[in-house]
Amino acid sequence: MATHVSPEQLALAANALAAGKLVAFPTETVYGLGADARNGEAVRRIFAAKGRPASNPLIVHLASPDEIPRYADLSRSFDRPLVEERLKKVSVFWPGPVSVVLPAAAIIAKEVCAGGDTVALRIPRHPIALALLAAFGGPVAAPSANISNYISPTTAEHVRAGLGDAVEAILDGGPCEVGLESTVLSLLEKTPRILRPGTVTREQLASALGCEVEGPTPGQHSAPAEGTLLSPGLMAKHYSPRTPVVLKPFLDPKAQLPTRIGAILFRPQPLPFNAVRTTVLSQTGELDAVAAKLFTALREHDALGLDLIVVDTCEPIGLGEAIMDRLVRAAR
Ligand code: TXA
Ligand code: MG
Repeated sequence: MATHVSPEQLALAANALAAGKLVAFPTETVYGLGADARNGEAVRRIFAAKGRPASNPLIVHLASPDEIPRYADLSRSFDRPLVEERLKKVSVFWPGPVSVVLPAAAIIAKEVCAGGDTVALRIPRHPIALALLAAFGGPVAAPSANISNYISPTTAEHVRAGLGDAVEAILDGGPCEVGLESTVLSLLEKTPRILRPGTVTREQLASALGCEVEGPTPGQHSAPAEGTLLSPGLMAKHYSPRTPVVLKPFLDPKAQLPTRIGAILFRPQPLPFNAVRTTVLSQTGELDAVAAKLFTALREHDALGLDLIVVDTCEPIGLGEAIMDRLVRAAR
C-alpha cells in the first residue's frame, strides 16, 4: 500500500494529537478524524467538526490488541474469562476492520462513550494509521472523517472537501483498500452481536469465535426515542448523498424518469434508461472491488448535479450484507 507520509509529517501529526488537536488519517476501511481519546475537550472538537450528535459514540483506535486491557475495563465484563477468550479469538482479524464493544475504562474520555459506559476498540491495519498510533503512543478516537450523515471518505481529497478547515493535518495514504467501515461487534452479552455489518462477516466471526453471533436486529434500524443509540450505524438515514438515490430493483419501469440520471453498476449490464453518467465498479461483479469503489462513485455522482442516482444491488450475504446495509440507508 502506498504511503505518502514523511517522518516529519508523522511527528507533526502525533504532536498535534498530543496538543488536543484533530488529525485525519487513512485506515484500511475509510479515513478517520482522530483525537486523543483521553482528552474530553479534544474529543468534543470531533463532534463539533462533524456536526455529530453527542449521543453517537466513537471508535477508539489502538496500536495493538495488547493495549485493550488498558482502555476496556474487563473486570466489568459479564464473564471476564469468557470475554478474554473471545478477544483472543477475534484478534485473528487484527490489525483489521473489526471493532469490539466492551465496558470502558475510566481513562477513556466520557465524550467518546457518548453518555454510555462502553467503548468500541479496534486495531486498524493501514501502515500510516499504525505509524501514527506508534508515534502518538496513546488511544485515538476516530469516527469517519466526513460531515455527519454524509458518505464516509475513502481518499484524503474527500476529507479535505468536507472537513479541511477543521483539521490540523490530513495524512494522505491514497485510496482506502476496503472502502466500507469496520464491522462493529458487541462483546457485552453472552451471545456476541454485530451492531454494524462490515467486510468481516458474521460467518467469519462465528467461525473464529466458535459460537453463534447475532446479526443487527431489524427492529433496531430506527433511533430510540432518547438516550444513547445502541449503535449510530443503526440510524435509518446515513451515508447519504444529497442527490436522491434509488436502488435499481425499485425503479418503476412505468414511471416518468427525470432527465439527468446517473447509474452505479456492480458489473456491466444494459440499462432500461439513458444515463448521463454510468460507473461500473467491477467487470465481474466482484464484491471486494464494489465495496472499495462504492463511496467514491457515490461522491462523484453526487457532484454532477443529477436528478437521480440509480445504484445496483447484490444479495445481502457475506460482504453483500454490509454493501446493502449502506445502500439501503443511502436510498432512504
Ligand atoms: O472503519 C471504521 O470503523 C471507521 C475507521 C475510521 O476506523 N470508523 C467509523 O467510525 O466508521 P464512525 O464513528 O463513523 O462509526 C462508529 C460506529 C457507529 O456505528 C457506532 O455505532 C459504533 O461505531 N460504536 C462506537 N462506539 C460504540 C459503543 N460504545 N457502543 C455501540 N456502538 C458503538
Ligand atoms: Mg461514520
